Amino acid sequence: MKTFFIETWGCQMNELDSQRLSGGLKLRGYKRVDDERAASLILLNTCSIRDKAEQKVFSRLGELRELKKETAAQIGVCGCLAQQEGQRIIDRAPWVDFVMGPGNVGYLDEILAGEHRVALEFPEDRRYDYDALDRTSATKAWVTIIEGCNKNCTFCIVPTTRGREVSRPFEGVLQEVRAAVATGRVEIELLGQTVNAYRCPQSGRDFGALLSAVAEVEGVNRLRFMTSHPAEVSDSMIVAMRDHANISRYLHLPVQSGSSRVLRRMKRLYSREKYLETIGRIRAAIPEIHFSTDVIVGFPGETDEDFEQTMSLVEEVRFGSMFAFKYSPRPGTPALKIGEPVDDAIASERLTRLFELQERHKRERLESYRGRVVPVLYEGPSRHDPEMLSGRTDDNWVVNFRGDARVPLGSMLGVRIEQAQHHTLRGEAVA
Ligand code: 5AD
Repeated sequence: MKTFFIETWGCQMNELDSQRLSGGLKLRGYKRVDDERAASLILLNTCSIRDKAEQKVFSRLGELRELKKETAAQIGVCGCLAQQEGQRIIDRAPWVDFVMGPGNVGYLDEILAGEHRVALEFPEDRRYDYDALDRTSATKAWVTIIEGCNKNCTFCIVPTTRGREVSRPFEGVLQEVRAAVATGRVEIELLGQTVNAYRCPQSGRDFGALLSAVAEVEGVNRLRFMTSHPAEVSDSMIVAMRDHANISRYLHLPVQSGSSRVLRRMKRLYSREKYLETIGRIRAAIPEIHFSTDVIVGFPGETDEDFEQTMSLVEEVRFGSMFAFKYSPRPGTPALKIGEPVDDAIASERLTRLFELQERHKRERLESYRGRVVPVLYEGPSRHDPEMLSGRTDDNWVVNFRGDARVPLGSMLGVRIEQAQHHTLRGEAVA
């Protein structure tokens, strides 16, 4: 019996690639196992966005060396670290059987046949085997609409690891959405590294047009997307969001820094003013929107004054959520040659101050739901307390609530919010 075990790091694109790998392997007669000791094939689907992610993979590979002595499992390294390091992974860990980059997920036959020990090409068609997707959620489907990235942010490894942008044809996306809905997936999340740069290669239709078309597919009760680039926010995208009640009132819009000087050095293609103007335009159309963002602190040459600009931008926008990271040098990126590194202790202090500010804004936002009845898409039992049900609001907050577990998964329920917790809301379903 051929069996496989797969471990996934990183972003949703990688999670989806794992679903594709898993589906593809099942189609080829493999059975998925949760215990790596029982696997004849072990896949590590890796991330290389920051150095930490990379270190974890190499320490895992050390453990797998021992396991392989006992089980003789085949070991494959996939994902962004695979793309970044290629042959060097095998040089460092010769017990790895193959290395395949994200462009090769659709080419399992060739890989498993041992035709490529190191597969790093980006075939134009990327061969999407959508029928073979092994979706892990019963209510939600991720759908890739664009792969790769044509931006050249100076800190970022993604253009190297995921290749140039390729959008999928509009009709192919719609077909996949309809097929997902037919299997009970009432929530669709469109994915891309720069999702809102989407443009149909055949008809030229843009992201706004695609959003509207997907929102209008019968049975799509909630539509989300990730990740948007601030310089690609178009009026058609804003109008589509405004005019379709089933498009989530949530927008992740990574700002990275509040200083125009730093943004220029990052090559983000917008200034502080332009970013704020974009936020204003979206808020004017959709006042209740929940904004979240990513911030990098300690980018080379970031001064106290630059950082204060980030603090003041965050104060002005009042993001509901934020992911903030210390700058991590990535191999081959232009930022390696820019400016003086920021002292690690200073970067840590900046990060702490930023989180404190952000916590206040999150708290304010979460507290504002207390006493209100909000629509919640029911996803299943709560992760931490099986007595409770769990779902998400329209603006992407997790709600844990008391209610009747017999209602079908994917139902839209009214929940009265009683309490704001650290990152989530708590309440009770109402009739
Ligand atoms: N160092 C730190 N953070 C990074 N990110 C991307 N590259 C780096 C890097 N070299 C962050 C950005 C991005 C998020 C996914 O990861 O904030 O939006």
